Amino acid sequence: MSHILLIHSSVHGQTVKICEYMKQKAESQGVKVTLATLADNPSVEGFDKVFIGASIRHGKHRPALYQFIEANKEKLEAVPNGFFSVSLVARKPMKNTPETNMYYQAFLKQSVWQPQVQEVFGGNLDYQFYGPVDRNIIRFIMWITKGPTDPHTKVEYTDWDKVDNYVQRMIDA
Ligand SMILES: Cc1cc2nc3c(=O)[nH]c(=O)nc-3n(C[C@H](O)[C@H](O)[C@H](O)COP(=O)(O)O)c2cc1C
Repeated sequence: MSHILLIHSSVHGQTVKICEYMKQKAESQGVKVTLATLADNPSVEGFDKVFIGASIRHGKHRPALYQFIEANKEKLEAVPNGFFSVSLVARKPMKNTPETNMYYQAFLKQSVWQPQVQEVFGGNLDYQFYGPVDRNIIRFIMWITKGPTDPHTKVEYTDWDKVDNYVQRMIDA
C-alpha cells in the first residue's frame, strides 16, 4: 500500500481541514496518509510521496515553510511530491490556478524546491473569529479584491471538487 506524508502549515485550521478531507478521500481508495504539522518539523523519510499544504497570512506563506523546504529539499525531490496554497485571493476565478495566483508564483520564486503537483485553493472567511486588528486587515483585503466586507460574513471558499481532483493527482503521482 502506498504511504503519503501530508504536511500542513495552518493558522486557523482551514488547511488542516483540507488535509483531513484529503486523507479520508485517499484512504477510501486504499492509500495510507499520515498527517503532520509543519511546525513539528516532521521527518519525511520512509514515505512513498510527500505533499505540503500552507495558508497565506498577510500576503505570505510563513517563513518556517521555506526553512523546512531548505532543510528537506533533496528528500522532497527524491519522491513524488506536491504543494498547495490556501488563501482568500484564490477564490477569484482569475487567481485560482498556480499560474495566475500571485502567492503561488511568489512561492515558486522563493522556494528552492519546485513541487510537481501544484494547486491553489480558496480558504475560509470568518470575520467574527478574528481579533479586531486582523478583522479589519482582512476586510481591507476583501474590499480591494471586491469581496464581502460585512463583519458578520462567514463563508468557506474551498472548492471541494477541486480538492477531490487534487487527491486523484496525488494518488496518480
Ligand atoms: C491575519 C490573516 C491574514 C490573512 N491575509 C491574507 C492575505 O494577505 N491574502 C489572502 O488571500 N488571504 C489572507 N488571509 C486568509 C487566509 O489565507 C484564509 O483564511 C485561509 O483559509 C487560512 O487558512 P488556515 O486556516 O489554514 O490558516 C488571511 C487570514 C488571516 C486570519
